Amino acid sequence: MIRVLRGHIVDAPRLGELQVTECGWLVLEDGVIRGVFDRLPAAYDNAPVTDYGDRLILPSFADMHLHAPQYPMLGMGMDLPLLDWLGTYAFPTEARFGDPDYARRTYRRLASDLITNGTTRVCMFSSLHTEATWILMEELERAGVTGYVGKVNMDRNGVPGLLQETAEQSAAETLRWLEGCRSDRVKPILTPRFTPSCSDELMARLGAIAAERGLYVQSHLSESLQEIEWVRNLHPDCERYWETYAKFGLWKDHTLMAHCVWSDTNERAAMRAAGVVAVHCADSNVNICSGVCPVRRLLDEGIWVTLGSDIAGGAQLPMYKVITAAIRASKIRRVIDDWTTDFLTVEEAFYLGTTAGHRYFGAGEGFAPGNRLHAIVVDDGDFPEAVGPLTVRERFQRAVYMLHRRNIVAVWSDGRCVVEKPLVPAEN
Ligand code: GUN
Ligand code: FE
Repeated sequence: MIRVLRGHIVDAPRLGELQVTECGWLVLEDGVIRGVFDRLPAAYDNAPVTDYGDRLILPSFADMHLHAPQYPMLGMGMDLPLLDWLGTYAFPTEARFGDPDYARRTYRRLASDLITNGTTRVCMFSSLHTEATWILMEELERAGVTGYVGKVNMDRNGVPGLLQETAEQSAAETLRWLEGCRSDRVKPILTPRFTPSCSDELMARLGAIAAERGLYVQSHLSESLQEIEWVRNLHPDCERYWETYAKFGLWKDHTLMAHCVWSDTNERAAMRAAGVVAVHCADSNVNICSGVCPVRRLLDEGIWVTLGSDIAGGAQLPMYKVITAAIRASKIRRVIDDWTTDFLTVEEAFYLGTTAGHRYFGAGEGFAPGNRLHAIVVDDGDFPEAVGPLTVRERFQRAVYMLHRRNIVAVWSDGRCVVEKPLVPAEN
């Protein structure tokens, strides 16, 4: 079925590049983009049109790292650095997800908050609980959020008896969990929490499962200095943190590594060589005093960088907030680097929060033909009146900073309209 969307179409196909089609036409066939046009080609003259008028049609967001079972502690416990924060706040909160009813309630709310804020693709950590992880996947799918979810593996340095498995249990539960994953829209990803949480035996089993089943892997890397020191003590045979994953076959193409704040030249080269993807989580890095990631350096070196909210180290679920946090962090980095590095522009950070993430799922650049549509429609009519008329590019930049979910009047995910608010004709 052909469907045509009309509005001001803006996307970021490549780093630093913004494509603006004022009063444009976006043609969809069975949810797949056929093209973005200045004028509607005659072949589509009789197709039904959804006219979004003066509103902006933008790519939706991809949140490439967040912890679903930390949603109940959003905005809390920001007084401790990473390792103390995990033991004091994160682990006790995650332990609650042994209760499927609690998981259902929390995950339904999380899924709704994600989709109404325009996040249609995620790579997400669950807890170690198999049932709760299935529930999370169901709730995301129900809301229209797509992507990857991982049952977390942790067999050491958790909370014995409360939030920790044995290596045997962890591997067996992972296999049982994988058997129960059937959706094409929300798929499994292997999730060793981080090196301090996983014994060598467990890492080896997960490496074997990843290889046998061709699964992607997500974890954490070089987030804080204390953590790096701990990893060094746990693996005296490894010179660097990344080698503790590589040793077990977990360092490979499409492996997602959150943070990479303190990755050195060697570790960054290893990322590029293997096709490991960095997830920059600027809000989290500041909140739990991990550091300020040199994101410009990662980009200059050709590393694939995406963005994550890292809920609940990060306290901002909306990706437009995460995008502006990344811009701010890059400006802090510029100052502490003696003004030698460039900060991220709005266009660049928007690319990282949209196209760079969508590519992980096989999508082409921006609204490329052939992509299933992942988009939001923004009504900026309630923003303060500007001095003089704004260009669409200016409206886009303002929206990135000023958006609230009430301004997101429609959300398209995987080619389907999953959020639709009644359109009041825009005044002009
Ligand atoms: N490293 C291991 N687990 C976590 C977590 O839950 N949050 C963050 N920010 N870092 C981690
Ligand atoms: Fe994290």
